[in-house]
Amino acid sequence: MTHTTEPLDTAERLSIDELRHLQLERLQWTLRHAYDNVPFYRDKFTAAGVHPDDCRTLDDLAKFPFTTKQDLRDNYPFGMFAVPREQVRRLHASSGTTGKPTVVGYTEADLDNWSMLVARSIRAAGGRPGDLVHVAYGYGLFTGGLGAHYGAEKLGCTVVPASGGMTARQVQLITDLRPGVIMVTPSYLLTLLDEFERQGIDPRSSSLRVGILGAEPWTEQMRSEIEERLAIDAVDIYGLSEVMGPGVAQECVETKDGLHVWEDHFLPEIIDPFDESVLADGEHGELVFTSLTKQALPLIRYRTRDLTRLRPGTARPAHRRMEKVTGRSDDMIILRGVNLFPTQIEEIVLRIPGLSPHFQLELSKQDRLDKLTVHVEADPGAGPEVRAAAAAEIRARVRDGIGVGVDVAVEDPDTLERSMGKMRRVIDRRHS
Ligand code: DLL
Repeated sequence: MTHTTEPLDTAERLSIDELRHLQLERLQWTLRHAYDNVPFYRDKFTAAGVHPDDCRTLDDLAKFPFTTKQDLRDNYPFGMFAVPREQVRRLHASSGTTGKPTVVGYTEADLDNWSMLVARSIRAAGGRPGDLVHVAYGYGLFTGGLGAHYGAEKLGCTVVPASGGMTARQVQLITDLRPGVIMVTPSYLLTLLDEFERQGIDPRSSSLRVGILGAEPWTEQMRSEIEERLAIDAVDIYGLSEVMGPGVAQECVETKDGLHVWEDHFLPEIIDPFDESVLADGEHGELVFTSLTKQALPLIRYRTRDLTRLRPGTARPAHRRMEKVTGRSDDMIILRGVNLFPTQIEEIVLRIPGLSPHFQLELSKQDRLDKLTVHVEADPGAGPEVRAAAAAEIRARVRDGIGVGVDVAVEDPDTLERSMGKMRRVIDRRHS
């Protein structure tokens, strides 16, 4: 398949030297803006013995302290804003599993940059002006729906603001309106695929040609499954509300080799999550972002908890790529001393015949020891022997590949919870 990537934004065509120059200028502005307008940053810099004037090269950023989600919570709701509330045009919030939500804000210029970056992302994914874009990310306080929406409009697309849920109607809309592009979480796209089949429509016959999938981890195996069943190009979009929302990084359709971080607006670092030292490009660790243009909520060295590594740019040479996120450090299961991510189970499940891509992990206690049960749905045609063989295969692959014993329950088709947005992969019953 051939794809045209032109025309690109000026920033997408910068040389590395030009980009570094722009980043330093913007970093110096951001540090000064945060220090002058947010008491939290002023106090934190002072306590660490640093001042914005100490930033003379990009490497000097390492002298500055980190920011965490807890800092945002402590300053709830508007304490981290660097502009008067009246200059904030929009608020979003992320729910978080415990405690208060995190509130984020955008000035008019922040919203313009966000739309521009999502437009750039959609184009990198293969969308073009004039395309019809079906947005099935949730609309509301979550950044997915509105972020995708304004980006698609900015690119010059026709937007269908479907939001999440009402799955049968989504399939009807896709069939009738004939979008070329869908923006949705990969797990909810699986729910939509099942609905196509339930209605007796071959998903491969749909008008869709590009899926821009993100907001949760997904694997190369999942990409193959989705591309095969829907006959589309499936590419990865990454972002987080604190840093902006969708469109912080985007995979290019012509290479499908990880996500280009839009480095003219966000400076990425990888750190060792335990000793907080900065790691070299290519090493695995926790992703940290410093915003370079944000007015309302500048973020200095924000710890995302997402685990990945940075590689050199390819389709956009100056913009480094982040590898597909394997998971958040918070999602890591420690099972009898062995670290395990749900994405590792996804890779295994999707390789075994007789199984559907729907799975969930249940943690429980047995004789005071932690136990992990992989619940996975059988394919409709899979009989008892196929199911038993599949269960044995999962157990063996997890034992040999990850090094820990798990139980496997192969369930009947259509019995596990379906995703309506971000999928809850792990159910923890250890304390119930
Ligand atoms: O999920 C923003 C978004 C919306 C991104 C739509 C892409 C598409 P939050 O709700 O704040 O924002 O959640 C952010 O989701 O720290 C990652 O752990 C995870 N995440 C987001 N994109 C990806 C991805 C949105 N492509 C958190 N791969 C992040 C893996 C992702 N994880």
